[in-house]
Amino acid sequence: MTDTKDPLVVFTPSGKRGRFPAGTPVLTAARQLGVDLDSVCGGRGICSKCQVTPGYGEFSKHGVTVHEDALSEWNAVEERYDQKRGLKPGRRLGCQATVQRDVVIDVPPESQVHRQVVRKAATARVIEMDPATRLYFVEVDEPDMHEPTGDLERLARALKREWEIPEIRADLTLLSKLQPTLRKGKWQVTVALHKSHRDAVASVIEIWPGLHEGGLYGLAIDLGSTTVAAHLTDLDTGEVKASSGIMNPQIRFGEDLMSRVSYAMMNPGGDVEMTAAVREAIDTLAQEIAREAEIDAALIVEVVLVCNPVMHHLLLGIDPVELGQAPFALATSESVSLMARELGLEAINTRARAYILPCIAGHVGADAAAVALSEEPGKSDDLALIIDVGTNAEILLGDKTSVLACSSPTGPAFEGAQISSGQRAAPGAIEAIRIDPETKEPRFRVIGCDLWSDEEGFAEATASTGITGICGSGIIEAVAELRMAGLMDESGLIGSAAQTGTSRCVAEGRTHSYLVFDASDTGGPRITVTQGDIRAIQLAKSALYAGARLLMDERGVDRVDRVVLAGAFGAHISPLHAMVLGMIPDAPLDKVTSAGNAAGTGARIALCNIAARAEIERTVRQIHKVETAIEPKFQEHFVAANAIPHKTAPFPELAKIAPLPNPSFNTKGEDPAGGGRRRRRRG
Ligand code: FES
Repeated sequence: MTDTKDPLVVFTPSGKRGRFPAGTPVLTAARQLGVDLDSVCGGRGICSKCQVTPGYGEFSKHGVTVHEDALSEWNAVEERYDQKRGLKPGRRLGCQATVQRDVVIDVPPESQVHRQVVRKAATARVIEMDPATRLYFVEVDEPDMHEPTGDLERLARALKREWEIPEIRADLTLLSKLQPTLRKGKWQVTVALHKSHRDAVASVIEIWPGLHEGGLYGLAIDLGSTTVAAHLTDLDTGEVKASSGIMNPQIRFGEDLMSRVSYAMMNPGGDVEMTAAVREAIDTLAQEIAREAEIDAALIVEVVLVCNPVMHHLLLGIDPVELGQAPFALATSESVSLMARELGLEAINTRARAYILPCIAGHVGADAAAVALSEEPGKSDDLALIIDVGTNAEILLGDKTSVLACSSPTGPAFEGAQISSGQRAAPGAIEAIRIDPETKEPRFRVIGCDLWSDEEGFAEATASTGITGICGSGIIEAVAELRMAGLMDESGLIGSAAQTGTSRCVAEGRTHSYLVFDASDTGGPRITVTQGDIRAIQLAKSALYAGARLLMDERGVDRVDRVVLAGAFGAHISPLHAMVLGMIPDAPLDKVTSAGNAAGTGARIALCNIAARAEIERTVRQIHKVETAIEPKFQEHFVAANAIPHKTAPFPELAKIAPLPNPSFNTKGEDPAGGGRRRRRRG
């Protein structure tokens, strides 16, 4: 019972307030008011998660004057903690300090359970921390001969009593360490409990004697056809401790998805081989990333994975053959929750859980679902086109009224594969290039150096990395710049030296290449953009554009309000060059933004927030899927998109900022773009 004479407690930043009898611990007041104040030890003064900052003086906003003696005096527990670990000046332990008089208490972000983590990307989305696995410190009753119960049952009882956990389960590996751990901790233990959004029973993932202070971690993994990227995330703070990536070893079975499906079809046991390869790679990646962050890999207790449907099946050990033919049936489109060790993840905690986001359709996978979770097209006021550029592009078009999705087989050209001088984005790779429209001379920048190649000090700055090749963003810029400089015509033909007036256009057989960099006389590379490179990029960009157009047709629109480029390298694509190339539909340039690795971010959101898992499971059911593979209009759009930027679409916004010269280098009257002849591919 409180009365109006009881001290008033106001919490900031929540603004929650209430009256409590003098002597009430701050933590208790916070809990009763529903204020978000953390605690792992349940108020025993050992975890320090409950730190608060009382404010003193006049708070006219709250109508409160706070006196020096508003809280109880600094007690022995706080003193001990301060001496051992140090408390920041002005901080108190909320479970120790009691309310004496009216007081205003600030809960700093690190003491909030559901603290918010702001993404660094331009379209910052706040992630609220509410992970599936959390730590709980409990005091378990000692065994009693007169009341015979097992240690696990008494642990369950303690968790119910102290943390209102209704029910727990533990597997045999955990049971076998339960008894020694309880005794070692003198009946005080910390448990890591995993609560699924679908299951009321919590699973004990790990147990430590006493208070565990080593933290808990999770891995968000974006498993792509060409690369695998992982973010090691602190499950308490949401902080990314380390990010790392490796090539997908399945590349040796086929560069794109369809060639991997055919490998599985043609080679008995081929799917098993590919499953083993990718599982081993993820396990190695987990090991390496833990080492890099100097974290015990056994503290990694959660893994969230996003991937396209073929990767999804191969990871799970399901033969992807059905995904290679209409009607492209998935074994399951639902999210998958399982033990991480079932996916061959041996390096991390043996009881760690894995969660794979739901797929949208047979060709639109969990990676597209992750993009939807991260970019939230279904909450957008304006019509947004979101393109996750990769070997297989995921495309979403939508706003508050509806969201459409498809995937498009762009192939690995955008990632530097199938390009004569192509390479992965790594130090030494050309990532940006400009061609002077007058002199037709190139200048470029390589990864690992901020200088342009015509700036002083460039040679010295790149001496250690060298200039090794062109990565995805570099090749996009190179092709667009060739077009802007009038060295390549609309059909994609590179002109001869005579036609263009530059000796950088060199004959190679019956076609021409543009020479970007030549160090061959000193044994270095000779980097050119060949006619074959242009063709590869034309195929990739046409597939991307055609997928976007198909969704626009379905929606009944000719233009979109904004374009978001996502993907591991989507962030590095210059919007202007992407538009000159005709990768994306025409839009005002300032409405073309980059979202970084949206699929990876979606995975991280699902890792940090359990409600996001339920949300995306709901959302994917509402997304309308469009199947590019069986849609005749796709082919039509594809052919028209072969021209650079496009055969028929006018691109008025582009014309305002970058009028393109219009040479024609086709002297034979053929259709050099080879429109319509195209290897159908998924990848
Ligand atoms: Fe753990 Fe206060 S709740 S120290």
